[in-house]
Amino acid sequence: MADHSVVSVANGPWKQTREEVSVLRWEEPPEGPVLILLDQTRLPTEEVELVCTDVPALLEAIRTLAVRGAPLLGIAGAYGVALAAVRGYDVDEAAELLARARPTAVNLGYGVRRAAAAYRRALAEGMAPERAAAAALAEARGLHAEDAEASAAMARRGLELLGELVPGGGYQLLTHCNTGALVSGGEGTALAVVLAAHRAGQLRRLWVDETRPLLQGARLTAYEAARTGMAYTLLADNAAGSLFSAGEVDAVLIGADRIAADGSVANKVGSYPLAVLARYHRVPFIVVAPTTTIDPGTPDGASIEVEQRAGHEVTEWAARPVAPLGTQAYNPAFDITPADLITAIVTENGVVSPVTADALAALGAPGAPG
Ligand code: MRU
Repeated sequence: MADHSVVSVANGPWKQTREEVSVLRWEEPPEGPVLILLDQTRLPTEEVELVCTDVPALLEAIRTLAVRGAPLLGIAGAYGVALAAVRGYDVDEAAELLARARPTAVNLGYGVRRAAAAYRRALAEGMAPERAAAAALAEARGLHAEDAEASAAMARRGLELLGELVPGGGYQLLTHCNTGALVSGGEGTALAVVLAAHRAGQLRRLWVDETRPLLQGARLTAYEAARTGMAYTLLADNAAGSLFSAGEVDAVLIGADRIAADGSVANKVGSYPLAVLARYHRVPFIVVAPTTTIDPGTPDGASIEVEQRAGHEVTEWAARPVAPLGTQAYNPAFDITPADLITAIVTENGVVSPVTADALAALGAPGAPG
C-alpha cells in the first residue's frame, strides 16, 4: 500500500503568489525524509500537497499524473531513488519500478538512472549506505537546479527565435498541454518562452488548447497563465483550425516528452494535428525542450513507446459516463510529430532549425547515465 498523507494548502488557486506554492520539494522532518508534491490532479480548484514517505506513494503519484510533465518527472524520479535509499528500500528494484512508471517521457528514466548511478558509485567507493543515499540526494538536487538553469536559457533563446520568425512582436501564440513551472525546476519549457514574451511586452495573447481528455491546458496552463497576469484565452482543441484560418496564430509553442535521434517529437496527443495545421497555414511550429528530453538511443518516431491510458479517461467526464456503458476508447497519451513538420527545436544549448539528426546530435544530449 502506498503511504502518503494529503495536506491542503489553500482553497483557491489565486490566493497565493507563485513563490508560496512549491511544485516539488524534499523535506526532512523528525519522522524521516519525505518528497512533497503539489497534487496536479486537484488543480485549479484546490492547491493540495501529497507527502510521499515511500516509493509506492511516488509511483502512484506518477501514474495518476499528480506529478507529471517530462522535466519534472525526471526530477521526481531522481528524488524517488534518494527516497528509496534513505528509507532502506532495494534501490535497484525501486529504480526499475520508477523508471517504468510511465514509458514515454525519457526524462523519467534519465533522472532515475542518474541518481541510481550516483548511489552505486558511492557504494563502489566504499561509502556506507547512508552516505551513498546522501550522494543520490545530491544528484537529485543537482538535476533540479540544472533544470531551472535550462529553463531560463530556453526562455531566452526561444524569445530571440520568436523575434526572428515573427517580425513585429505583439505575438498571438498557441500552446497545447502544460509546459510551465508545474513541470519544471524553473519556469518550464514552452510556457517559459511565452512568459518571457509577456514580460518583454511582446505577448498579445496566449491561446490555450484545453487538451482533452485530462485537460492539462484548461486546468493547468490556464491556472499558470492567470497567475502571471498574461492575456490568455481557452479553446476546445478542435477550435484550433478556425483560429489558424482566421490568421490569429503567429506561432505554435509546445514541449516534448521524447525527441528521437531523427528529430521526431513525442508530445501530448493533439500536438501532431497542430503541426499539420501550422504547416498548411505557414505558421512556425516550435518545440521547446531541455537536452535531457533528447534520446539518442531512440532512432526514430516509430521507435518511441506511446503510453496508452485507461479508456474511462475518454468515456467519462468528471467521473460521469458520457458514452454508453461498454464503449471502447482509443486513448494514447501522446502522438508523434515528424521532424519535417517542426520549424525549430529550442534547447538550453542552442536552437536546431531545420531539424536534422546531425544538428540534434551536435547539441550534446546527455544520453543514458551509468
Ligand atoms: O501526460 P502529461 O501531462 O505528463 O504530458 C505532459 C506533456 O505532454 C508536456 O507537453 C511535455 O511533458 C512537455 S513538458 C515540458
